[in-house]
Amino acid sequence: MAFLNEHYLKLKAGYLFPEIGRRVKAFNDAHPDAAKRLIRCGIGDVTEPLPAAVIAALHRAVDEMGVRETFRGYGPEQGYDWLRAAIAHHDYRAKGLDVADDEIFVSDGSKCDCGGILDVLGSANRIAISDPVYPVYVDTNVMAGHTGEADSGGAYGGLVYLPCTPQNGFIPEPPQEAVDVVYLCSPNNPTGAAATRAQLQSWVDYALKHRAILLFDGAYEAYITESGIPHSIYEIPGARECAIEFRSFSKNGGFTGVRCAFTVVPKTLMARTAAGEKRALHPLWQRRMTTKFNGVSYLVQRAAEALYSTDGQAQVGQLLAHYLGNAEVLVAGARAAGLTVHGGRNAPYIWVETPAGHTSWQAFDKILREANVVITPGSGFGSKGEGYFRVSAFNSRANAEEVARRLQDLKW
Ligand code: MLT
Repeated sequence: MAFLNEHYLKLKAGYLFPEIGRRVKAFNDAHPDAAKRLIRCGIGDVTEPLPAAVIAALHRAVDEMGVRETFRGYGPEQGYDWLRAAIAHHDYRAKGLDVADDEIFVSDGSKCDCGGILDVLGSANRIAISDPVYPVYVDTNVMAGHTGEADSGGAYGGLVYLPCTPQNGFIPEPPQEAVDVVYLCSPNNPTGAAATRAQLQSWVDYALKHRAILLFDGAYEAYITESGIPHSIYEIPGARECAIEFRSFSKNGGFTGVRCAFTVVPKTLMARTAAGEKRALHPLWQRRMTTKFNGVSYLVQRAAEALYSTDGQAQVGQLLAHYLGNAEVLVAGARAAGLTVHGGRNAPYIWVETPAGHTSWQAFDKILREANVVITPGSGFGSKGEGYFRVSAFNSRANAEEVARRLQDLKW
């Protein structure tokens, strides 16, 4: 009989969002009337249609695929040159940041890349992760065998947890001890907090000092509204020597169902062999992509390219304004309900303290049962998420307003 990967057996029962889905389905089956008025503010999945520029680009690309002369088969595994160039230009060089076209790797999602990056990192790394955190960072390390077992609080042996609390504004601080790999997410999922330049500089300084690598998840950068908050880790001097950046078109262009993202691996980023030899990670990631991936479809890459057109940029701006407007409505509604609220300013998530005496899952059940609204329990993101719940602003305006009203009607 074949052997299985026993590291999977260390994982908690289910990934957070399927578990929420299971509970919501059970509720809906038992209460078909309440199910009709259910509003989902759980998983951060976009609700608004794709920008018109994207739809036009998709139509054009479909037509090209129907003609022998313009038909495309396999594309480059790392992405078509024109998309890599558009990304490097618009997101980096036009903003004064030094990123070359061939440091951009186009993929089908940041979730996949956050997990896949472990392929090119060794197994002896000491890994630091925020708490609360996007669960993918933890679970992929568990799967790769980089952790011990989970304790009764759900914390895995071997990981260094960095608490994110109201005291540090939900931004993790560099630990005293040396670690080799650090996951950072700003603006943050789930707390909605955005790291300042000084906070990111302290992380880059830490990484350079300890020769650590920062895995910087910037999937929500487009939601930054405050000036002075960095949109990219490469705004911080020294980051090209220590950081990989993950970006996504899911939350700005509404591509959660279209699937397109990219990862920046600077050619100046080094890691070491067990023998102590310094080697660049860029060729390893390139090798990994060409072996394990056959590229994002031509249609989707043309759709992503359209997001950078003048029309595309204006339409993305409208989408962002819509979701940020929802966040404002939700923050105001939750505050009017007497709740203490964080986030929602530079991010599409609001992070709400559960009223005293309620755990995150108790709040989830109460809000589902009594308000017929799905939220995400903070404890699903880590032990320091206990006592919070996350409300996603990805919705129609009418639904956001209705959720704000229902939160005010709840008696805790
Ligand atoms: C979330 O709700 O945390 C995100 O939608 C998950 C994701 O982007 O994969």
